[in-house]
Amino acid sequence: MSDLIQGIDVCIAGTGSHVPEHILTNDELAMRVDTSDEWIVTRTGIRERRIAAEGEHTSHMATKAARIALEQAGIEAGEIDLIIVATITPDTLTPATACYVQQALGAHGAVAFDISAACSGFLYAMKISKRLISDGAFNNALIIGAEKLSAFVNWEDRATCVLFGDGAGAAVLRKAEPGEGSIIATEMGTDGRLTHLLSIPGGGSACPITIDNAAERHATLAMLGKEVFKHAVTRMKEAAERVIERAGLTPGDIACVIPHQANLRIIDAIADRLDMPNERVFVNLHKYGNTSAAAVAIALDEAARSGAFKRGDHIVLVVFGAGLTWAAAAIRW
Ligand code: ACO
Repeated sequence: MSDLIQGIDVCIAGTGSHVPEHILTNDELAMRVDTSDEWIVTRTGIRERRIAAEGEHTSHMATKAARIALEQAGIEAGEIDLIIVATITPDTLTPATACYVQQALGAHGAVAFDISAACSGFLYAMKISKRLISDGAFNNALIIGAEKLSAFVNWEDRATCVLFGDGAGAAVLRKAEPGEGSIIATEMGTDGRLTHLLSIPGGGSACPITIDNAAERHATLAMLGKEVFKHAVTRMKEAAERVIERAGLTPGDIACVIPHQANLRIIDAIADRLDMPNERVFVNLHKYGNTSAAAVAIALDEAARSGAFKRGDHIVLVVFGAGLTWAAAAIRW
């Protein structure tokens, strides 16, 4: 599903991110399961990941990232009228994590809800809030990707536990003034025929966790990695191409591509297919692993702060996750 360029431009007024203090290295993981730093680095590019402390919830990380984004945007919490948290690891099944964030920020005038689109959630939230702002329904939106995946990883399964980490990234969206940047084109898609490739099968109503099945660890991430890999490359390449074309640009016009941070080999394959030199592709997964909905949000914040692009540059965000879901956005910064 795609959109046409909107009459009212919506810009990203501020970004922020937060990751937990505790670093878990590949060598430390190799003491728990049969793996090695060499295997993890060559297969994924990941060197370490952050792990939330006990009592540090998804909403806590989300709130910290949000405060930084609000400060950069120069917007008070009371001015926010829409909060969307993208997460597959909510604090509680209900209420939504966005409600806890609203409470912590004191953003009492906001409508707050979560969306569940796995690693694609932050860009789903961006498209939804862009449309709601350009329709005039809301003025200032806070969108957040936040995950505590460490709570849903089977720490005895070497095929998945090496991949994931915790963190949060946020952005404040508002109507753009003349001369400011804008979200030019967005794209998102879903293929529910492939739900079986990547899921947390237990913990929902289909498979509640009970005393009898608790040992089977149904409430942990299960993935057919090779299959996911193939779809990730194809879908992200297509989505990126579509937003670039719809924005009236060519790959040569893009100063920086910020892809979902799951696997360096996936990122390299996409860069190759888009004919994009490595220096124009932002990567931080070596530090954080795959933080699902948070990954592209953290990467956007770090890329912007590191000077990977400047005001007026065109950038592309592109993501892929469980569902299967995918999304992309072309942005004039
Ligand atoms: N250490 C050592 N060996 C391992 C490990 C490990 N941590 N994990 C698996 N292996 C072994 C396997 O057992 C297998 O051994 P075998 O050949 O004796 O059977 C061998 O390594 C190869 O395993 P593969 O699964 O084929 O390895 P592959 O090269 O496909 O890499 C990986 C696996 C990294 C998971 C890759 O498939 C991948 O990145 N897939 C995409 C994941 C992704 O993008 N997810 C995004 C969405 S996440 C979300 O939405 C929440």
